[in-house]
Amino acid sequence: MDIRIFDTAGDVAEALARRIALALADDPATVLGLPTGQTPVATYAELRRLHAAGEADFSRASTFNIDEFAGVGASDPGSFRSFMDRHLFDAVNVRVERIHFLNGAASDLDAECDRYEAAIERAGGLDIQLLGIGANGHIGFNEPAGELVARTHRVTLTESTRRDNAALWGGDAARVPREALTMGVGTMLKAAALILIATGERKAQCVERTVHGPVTPRLPASFLQLHRHVEVYLDREAASRL
Ligand code: GLP
Repeated sequence: MDIRIFDTAGDVAEALARRIALALADDPATVLGLPTGQTPVATYAELRRLHAAGEADFSRASTFNIDEFAGVGASDPGSFRSFMDRHLFDAVNVRVERIHFLNGAASDLDAECDRYEAAIERAGGLDIQLLGIGANGHIGFNEPAGELVARTHRVTLTESTRRDNAALWGGDAARVPREALTMGVGTMLKAAALILIATGERKAQCVERTVHGPVTPRLPASFLQLHRHVEVYLDREAASRL
């Protein structure tokens, strides 16, 4: 793993946004896998700024978000799709038909997962998969478990993850849906390159286990150790146990 440590979360966002803008300049048709959560918010803000300055062009890029709540339509303000519209898509020139999302409101959720896997393949696979990490080591919504599902699938969220996502639901964990759809760890590991972002003291322990611990489904992010191209963007606090 290529570990990059920056002083502050703001420095992480700046460096990562620049990394993505350069990838887009290099290959305008880059296929990006994108996360939600609080961690990438500053990176998305920086990408909006670079775009406004003419330094990040999404006109030929495609995006695939990692996950979405089940039973939630795209226009629901609590959906990850709404989150992405607010933080990135509405302010950059990505074409709407190249924005790909799991449809949490699909009538057949298993078929929806199959459709998503096929869409990723049709796009030629993910070039760069950006990832946040949950404090319990989850990536996307792949929660710690005895075994992991490799492909895009339906999951039951843990109480801690529902609490972590309460901000999108007026701060009320009880309103957070109980189920979600997520890319599997196998789907993510098929990306050409993965970039994990973590900031803040709260992530220090799972970052340490992700980088140095055993590969175990009890810490889904540890599977990143199996990939040949992983970049880890950290601030000093998240890196404090390395
Ligand atoms: C959610 C998302 C994950 C994200 C995680 C961490 O559960 N499904 O993709 O990585 O939260 O969120 P945060 O960045 O807010 O700590």
